[in-house]
Amino acid sequence: MRLLVLGGTGFLGRHIVERAVLGGWHVTTFNRGLTGADHPAAEALRGDREAEGGLTALASGRWDAVIDTSGHVPASVARSARLLADRAGTCLYVSSLAALPWPAKPASDELAPRVCPLDAGLEDTGYGTLKAGCERAVREAFGDRALIVRPGVITGPRDDAGPVRGWLLRAARGGRFLPGGAPGDPVQLLDCRDVASWLLACAREGRAGSINAAGPVGRTTRGGLVDACVAVTGAGAEPVWADDRFLTAAGVRPWLDLPLWTPHDTPGYGHLWTVDAAAAYATGLSCRPLYETVEDTWAELRDAPAGEAETGPFPAERERALIEDWLGRRASAP
Ligand SMILES: NC(=O)c1ccc[n+]([C@@H]2O[C@H](COP(=O)([O-])OP(=O)(O)OC[C@H]3O[C@@H](n4cnc5c(N)ncnc54)[C@H](OP(=O)(O)O)[C@@H]3O)[C@@H](O)[C@H]2O)c1
Repeated sequence: MRLLVLGGTGFLGRHIVERAVLGGWHVTTFNRGLTGADHPAAEALRGDREAEGGLTALASGRWDAVIDTSGHVPASVARSARLLADRAGTCLYVSSLAALPWPAKPASDELAPRVCPLDAGLEDTGYGTLKAGCERAVREAFGDRALIVRPGVITGPRDDAGPVRGWLLRAARGGRFLPGGAPGDPVQLLDCRDVASWLLACAREGRAGSINAAGPVGRTTRGGLVDACVAVTGAGAEPVWADDRFLTAAGVRPWLDLPLWTPHDTPGYGHLWTVDAAAAYATGLSCRPLYETVEDTWAELRDAPAGEAETGPFPAERERALIEDWLGRRASAP
């Protein structure tokens, strides 16, 4: 089986390529050669999908499946999808749950995505809307040979910008820290390796349609995630669970300052971590325990170059001041 990965050297794409090679696929990757090294067993093609004439390297060749992990702009995704439609069996586009309308509907399933024109460029609109335009571009070119996959949060080893990494780095510094939210809040995280294996199985089987993907509802909590980060780093860090109102009033920004934290009164919050991913499980997605994801991510981070492990999601002084303020208010509360 021949597989073309548009991207393949960052995070999820790299896991897909590694697993595909192990699984006996003949793999081709297409990227600019800037982000990371191509897998030694892959045939590496170079080009910039956003540039005029940037797809020349894809002008010939045939593949059983294309997996597009790098498409963020409808106009350029449309160009590559049209170019490949007659020479590739199926196209699997990695979209995002963000492509769905927000606030989400209860048990949000494979609903119609947002609306986005095909000629939209990066400057036009936000991430989720652009992803919706990319979905449409792939569907228009590949028709019933297109599979649109919409994952929620993916994390695990090599996730340079991921939320688990942020909490691990913070926990490794020890002391008190602010996770935001409450220990019992649900979270639905996906491990990059589980997603990669599932996507390859879908590609091998030539699946089509749209599938949402998220960690199992109700299996993991924010407290479980934070405890795992504290346990594997072994620095005795101590979470301080300040409430939403306090954090919001202090100007703490959801997700940007505290990864994975969204105040409970955010419109649609009730559906944020209750995404129904039954179709993904029915087609073979399986999720390893969150602890394993955290442990393996830490095993990689622990050996990161000096200096990296000293950073975290929140400036230390601000964190300290907020914790003191919160604990002071709690102590003086009637
Ligand atoms: N992480 C999450 O929680 C999450 C959740 C939902 C959906 N997703 C989606 O999952 C996908 C995974 O992304 P990833 O970064 O892990 O994929 P990846 O394929 O591992 O890395 C991105 C690849 O795109 C290539 N690339 C970037 N700009 C390019 C350009 N202009 N022309 C050609 N190649 C280009 C990069 O190489 P060069 O820079 O060398 O070109 C790199 O190989 C994304 O589409 C993301 O939206 C992620």
